[in-house]
Amino acid sequence: MKGIILSGGHGTRLRPLTHTGPKQLIPIANKPVIYYAIDDLRQAGITDIGIILGTNMPNKIKDALGDGSELGVNITYIMQGEPKGLAHAAKTAQDFVGDESFVMYLGDNILKSGIQEFVEGFDDSDFSARILLQAVEDPRQFGVAEVNEKEEVIRLVEKPEHPKSNLALVGIYLFKENIFCAIDKIKPSWRDELEITDAIQQLIDDDLNVDSFIVEGWWKDTGKPEDVLDANQLILETLKTDIKGKIEDNVKIKGRVQIGENTVIKEGSVIKGPCIIGENCEIKGYVGPYTSIGDNTQLIESEIDSSIVIGNSVIQSDKRITESLLGLNSKIVTDKDTYPKGRSLVMGENSVIKL
Ligand code: TTP
Repeated sequence: MKGIILSGGHGTRLRPLTHTGPKQLIPIANKPVIYYAIDDLRQAGITDIGIILGTNMPNKIKDALGDGSELGVNITYIMQGEPKGLAHAAKTAQDFVGDESFVMYLGDNILKSGIQEFVEGFDDSDFSARILLQAVEDPRQFGVAEVNEKEEVIRLVEKPEHPKSNLALVGIYLFKENIFCAIDKIKPSWRDELEITDAIQQLIDDDLNVDSFIVEGWWKDTGKPEDVLDANQLILETLKTDIKGKIEDNVKIKGRVQIGENTVIKEGSVIKGPCIIGENCEIKGYVGPYTSIGDNTQLIESEIDSSIVIGNSVIQSDKRITESLLGLNSKIVTDKDTYPKGRSLVMGENSVIKL
């Protein structure tokens, strides 16, 4: 069995962060989100992985993952180019996949339980596809599956107004090679994309069997800033303490905390886990729960919680930074003793600042 990870797309909902790179590299607990998909595939015994690349700085993904050997996998890069839909992305991997079955994993999705159980038995079954589902409160914003008593899929509807079930499609799928014939038969949707739900519905219409697997633990699609912060919180829930940096006198550390090499926690600071602080940081102030601070960051007499600081940043703020997502090389400075007492901002397109 092979794996493909979809790493294209425009990532418009994550601008401005996606002006400087693909969203699949945004770190969750200081690790790019795509690494979690690779970990899941490797743990399920799938080491031949095709990474589908889009037009938004694909070389950044290549630089981050290389040939995969450091992650214990073997990576092949496949160029999709313009994002013409999930089924279009799958189709670009046809030569790579050949006649094997494969997992298709959306590169911005993250799943607590891993995919081992999901994958089990698929190769020897007579199912052409198996889809991962999760019960959600409001299915209207998702692809929704209707299943029979044996959990076989009888119908898929994209964002239905009147959903017939509460089972939403999670962005992880298992296919056999006949999915490619189904993709050849479908037409672009109203948004001009080849939809994977249409391709799976085509399998059903061709009397092929489609199975489902309902996931119990959490699943997050990190397509929007608030989802990225939620995923960060969920991953930090499982953090184990590991302190490598230097802790000065009179510092309080509570809960599960990771602190990287060459980081200094300055006198008087309070660090309350679960939180992770990367390498070469200098921290003076308060780092609260559910915070991930990337490498080379300085926190100067400031407080932060429930946030992600991607790295190389300076934060000197007279108000606590909370529920924030700060891109690489961000700088927050408070001028206390100068006039005029205005706010001076350098903001990229689509920035959001709540004062
Ligand atoms: P989406 O989040 O649906 O699309 P997007 O990345 O364009 O984001 P936005 O709506 O904010 O502009 O895509 C889900 C995942 O699939 C994501 O990891 C990107 C990937 N993808 C592709 O690789 N190729 C495609 O053609 C599409 C549509 C998505």
